[in-house]
Amino acid sequence: MASSNNHILLFLFFSFLSLLQINSCMAQNVKGGYWFPNSGITASNINSTLFTHLFCAFADLDASTNQVVISSTNAQTFAAFTSDVQQKNPSVETLLSIGGGSSNATAFAAMASQSSSRKSFIDSSIALARSNGFHGLDLDWEYPDTDEKMTSLGLLLQEWRTMAAAEAASSGKDALLLSAAVYYSPHYWSHADYPVTAMAASLDWINAMSYDFFGPGWSSTTGPLAALYDPGNGISGDIGVRAWIQAGMPAEQIVLGFPFYGHAFVLSNANDHSYFAPFTGPAISSDGTIVYNNIKKYISQNSATTVYNSTVVSAYCYSGTTWISYDDTQTISTKVVYAGEKGLKGYFAWHVAGDDDWVLSQTGEFTRFVLYTICKV
Ligand SMILES: *[C@@H]1O[C@H](CO)[C@@H](O)[C@H](O)[C@H]1NC(C)=O
Ligand SMILES: *[C@@H]1O[C@H](CO)[C@@H](O)[C@H](O)[C@H]1NC(C)=O
Ligand SMILES: *[C@@H]1O[C@H](CO)[C@@H](O)[C@H](O)[C@H]1NC(C)=O
Repeated sequence: MASSNNHILLFLFFSFLSLLQINSCMAQNVKGGYWFPNSGITASNINSTLFTHLFCAFADLDASTNQVVISSTNAQTFAAFTSDVQQKNPSVETLLSIGGGSSNATAFAAMASQSSSRKSFIDSSIALARSNGFHGLDLDWEYPDTDEKMTSLGLLLQEWRTMAAAEAASSGKDALLLSAAVYYSPHYWSHADYPVTAMAASLDWINAMSYDFFGPGWSSTTGPLAALYDPGNGISGDIGVRAWIQAGMPAEQIVLGFPFYGHAFVLSNANDHSYFAPFTGPAISSDGTIVYNNIKKYISQNSATTVYNSTVVSAYCYSGTTWISYDDTQTISTKVVYAGEKGLKGYFAWHVAGDDDWVLSQTGEFTRFVLYTICKV
């Protein structure tokens, strides 16, 4: 705890220096985090004072009925999620996330292609959110990869918003929040473009998944997993944010994603540990994924060398042939300042259990607080 507080003070100082250079900024009102069962902490143990919105992941799409369902193993924890996280922070709002990276993308495409199946999805999702006490719903369809699927997504979102508004009018409750987790850029790599106009009109915000730019499973060299600025390969959080804005998504509906994990690589040569080095495969785990708190343990147990690169805004560490790219406190602090400068709606973390004694979350909250204070001056 003491070391967390020292971190915070140190980064308050750094944040303050960079904040002094800001001319215009906007208060961000989403400090979000995703949680899923078996991630390492229970919902009750999330330090929800550090978040405005928590995403409970994942509800599933039943491919045969096109209805959104919560698996029986998750039924009790999901039903208790909102009351569990509100114990420490009664004003935190919760969203039930649907889909996710390992869900069946074919089933989402099939559901979204027909009006009757879209209606099954929409009606069941709204009923499920209400019966389980969530304040909103979050669609994680990874990914619509053709123009046709993007068109279906636009229709789905428009109808979702219409039905959510109708349900609010008839129930007398606040309308459910609607968000979607999306590719870091509106231009999906398969050359399909997101239906930005329909998204802006229908969603409260988008969660831009501005990470996984380099990983041992899909890259040809090492590189920063979540660079804010282009390290030389044409991919960065900033490139994505600017493309979303240029495509018509208002900045104040964009929420920037922060990875609370890293990607670990086995270097081909222990002496070649800068970005874009050759590697032979994943390190640490079968796919090279390692959460931030385990990166911190790895660094201290192996006396690993840590490097923060302020040009790309990313950190890495290495020891022998093990090389890990991740976001540290300085990365988070700089990205929160960036989000303020761009007038974004805020940031979210995947995923809250990756944090180390809440240091990353506290850095985000603290930087945002300083930013907000300066903006009001
Ligand atoms: C939760 O975060 C708050 C705000 O930073 C902090 O004061 C508190 O100690 C944290 N609680 C735990 C259990 O880490
Ligand atoms: C994915 O969904 C489609 C139906 O849309 C189904 O045909 C297919 O079997 C599903 N795949 C898996 C792995 O469940
Ligand atoms: C930071 O990364 C960029 C892009 O790879 C590189 O050109 C630069 O030399 C790095 N800076 C430091 C201090 O390592």
